Amino acid sequence: MEHDFQQLINRQDTRSVKWDLVETLYGSKDVLPMWVADMDFQVPKAVSNALSERALHGIFGYTYTDKQLNEIVVDWVKEQHHWTLSKAWILYSPGVISTIHMAIQSFTNKGDKVLIQTPVYPPFYDIIKKHERTLVTNPLQLNDQKYEIDFEDLEEKLKQGVKAFILCNPHNPVGRVWTKEELQHIITLCKKYEVLIISDEIHADIVYKPHQHIPIASLDEEIQPNTITCMSPTKTFNLAGLQVSYVIVSDKKMRDTLKEMFHKQGMHMINTMGITALEASYTSGKTWLNQLTEYLRINIQYVLEALQNRNDVKVIQPEGTYLIWLDFRGLGWSHQKVKSFLQEKAKVGLNDGASFGEDGEGFMRLNIACPTQRVEEGIHRIIQALDKIKEEE
Ligand SMILES: Cc1ncc(COP(=O)(O)O)c(C=O)c1O
Repeated sequence: MEHDFQQLINRQDTRSVKWDLVETLYGSKDVLPMWVADMDFQVPKAVSNALSERALHGIFGYTYTDKQLNEIVVDWVKEQHHWTLSKAWILYSPGVISTIHMAIQSFTNKGDKVLIQTPVYPPFYDIIKKHERTLVTNPLQLNDQKYEIDFEDLEEKLKQGVKAFILCNPHNPVGRVWTKEELQHIITLCKKYEVLIISDEIHADIVYKPHQHIPIASLDEEIQPNTITCMSPTKTFNLAGLQVSYVIVSDKKMRDTLKEMFHKQGMHMINTMGITALEASYTSGKTWLNQLTEYLRINIQYVLEALQNRNDVKVIQPEGTYLIWLDFRGLGWSHQKVKSFLQEKAKVGLNDGASFGEDGEGFMRLNIACPTQRVEEGIHRIIQALDKIKEEE
């Protein structure tokens, strides 16, 4: 059955971070929210049916995860990403960010160097800072509208005694889906300098052909036991509010250490509804996901065409994710001026590029996971405001 992604659904008054915090965050109710990474689409019918059925049961006592759920995850990862897992490798967690917090505490010590590739998802900085680790950055290089890894710089940094590397693949916000060659290069360096890889692969399922997501741990038998892979159905199926994710750790000793940290922090159970949604989405959501990816691809195409040939805003075409990194540096303005302009004149609520790191200054992140009509409205607002500025000049 075709899912209706065109439907405009009112999300106001649902305690939606994206919609109900607009006035608080952007100063005015008439700002169109196109920021935080969730979608304005309903989940697959099979998922809402499973949740309704579970809700109607009416009892929500303690819930456990079992081998059957692990099998569902194993099947999903195999079918989607061609990686054969053992059921025993899987641990569940309320969220990928919670897992990364636990992993950093489990496998690094205060002061240890932790590397990230910037600009990157803001909580990565926060995790490193909160646990008093030392931030090391490997800035991504923007060449011809495409971000690439500076491997020379990466090696230079890893050489200085980096303990862990938090990899983001697909990369938020720049939209890269790292290729086999790039991942292999990372593996070679991490092996050489004995660096633990914490791979955040939450965006793995939303990738545009011919690009293909490759879990880094699936590429090399030696790196697999030295990698912690975080995955989740929450970005894929729009379930962020249900707080469910899993982590794949093939090495038993490392898995036990991580598990112990989960327990130490009082994290011992997953939300009942999250488990229900994980099961239903992974067993019945594939067709919906294919339709979604096609729909998102069309929205991206729209943005690319609408903004092509402009000097004031350039689009970094994403290979995966429903997030578009927009480069406003052509305006020649301060970052603060770009931010105020989008908020106050264009009336669109985008993610502040600078929150992804200092190399995000002059950039903003746009979320296009909404009906095309809303993407058109957002882009129209941006274009109109930019053109007005030109006329006034
Ligand atoms: C790269 C990345 N990691 C993690 C998260 C959040 O994951 P969770 O809600 O499972 O903590 C996001 C959300 O946007 C993300 O983009």
